[in-house]
Amino acid sequence: MILSIESSCDDSAIALTRVDNFELLFHKKITQTHSHAKFNGVVPELAARLHARDLPLLLKDALKSAKKSAKDIKAIAVTNEPGLTPSLLEGIMMAKALSISLSLPLISINHLVGHVFSLFLNEELRLPLSILLVSGGHTMILELTKQKEYFRVATTLDDSLGEAFDKAAIMLGEHYPGGPIIERLAAKALETKGIKIFNFKVPLTKSKNIKSLAFSFSGLKNLLRLKIAELTDQNPLSCEDKLSLALAFQNCALEHIEMQVNKYLTNSRINLFGVVGGVSANIALRNRLINLCNLHKKEIIFSPLEFCTDNAAMIGRVAIEKYKNNDFISLENLDCRARVNFNESKCYE
Ligand code: KG4
Ligand code: ZN
Repeated sequence: MILSIESSCDDSAIALTRVDNFELLFHKKITQTHSHAKFNGVVPELAARLHARDLPLLLKDALKSAKKSAKDIKAIAVTNEPGLTPSLLEGIMMAKALSISLSLPLISINHLVGHVFSLFLNEELRLPLSILLVSGGHTMILELTKQKEYFRVATTLDDSLGEAFDKAAIMLGEHYPGGPIIERLAAKALETKGIKIFNFKVPLTKSKNIKSLAFSFSGLKNLLRLKIAELTDQNPLSCEDKLSLALAFQNCALEHIEMQVNKYLTNSRINLFGVVGGVSANIALRNRLINLCNLHKKEIIFSPLEFCTDNAAMIGRVAIEKYKNNDFISLENLDCRARVNFNESKCYE
């Protein structure tokens, strides 16, 4: 089995995965969201300290719960890019210490590739594959070719979708992480009779050609800010207006995603479309994309809800591919990178 460690942001996570049949023997994460909530976002130094506290606890738990001993581990896998540097370093230090003490090889994992493999936790990878990656740090359309090369087709010009949800929630007086909160408020708005309907202008609607396959959320964020200012000129924001605004924000953000994915699917020859990352847990997003893929006759796949947000199971799953290819990294070369870029696709120019 492979022991995998994920600590790129604010979730400490460890998993144990069998190499031969992908069986997940153990996976657990300790999320730090409550500790960061009062700061309205992730504080890197605090995140690192909490990883230093929690990763060893998870490691102890992993071997005990899976009734395994360290002798059963064949390799140590760790997320080393992209992410918050202080957070990544905690996982890397643990991986290096384990590698030395147990004489085991190290495997470095790209966190975004991890999200892609959350689609295939119990099965072989299916290629070629188009991917919509929507997380707290990224919003991209990627293509993974038959040769296992990644190309970036579209990315965001400013905020990521998850970040936009998080900031919208704060503006509405809620806390980090905002995605699930906005989703809940929007669902409540739909159930509330006689509620006001607000409409925000969908970003980048004027640019029709495929070259403009980009995302943008900063304008929408600003529209929300202005509307809140207008509504709170005399009185605090009413509960009903808060629900209406959450619904309007979610509708507009998802309309924008749908519009760009529609443009992409119109021009793509790939028949399999996967949706990954924390925001892919959003049911309204899932429903819109299911309908869109039906129209384009594409097969759509999602990760199980539990594995949309950060976890170590997806890291372990990528590690199996690398283990089978003897793709290890030395102690000296294992370092972290806060940012990484995939090659840009030339196919849509
Ligand atoms: O993938 P992830 O766990 O971390 C990164 O790699 O960034 O994604 C976290 C993001 C946060 O912005 C969170 O608000 C968002 O995913 N998120 C959601 C939902 N669940 C998590 N956004 C919208 N709807 C949800 N149900
Ligand atoms: Zn992530």
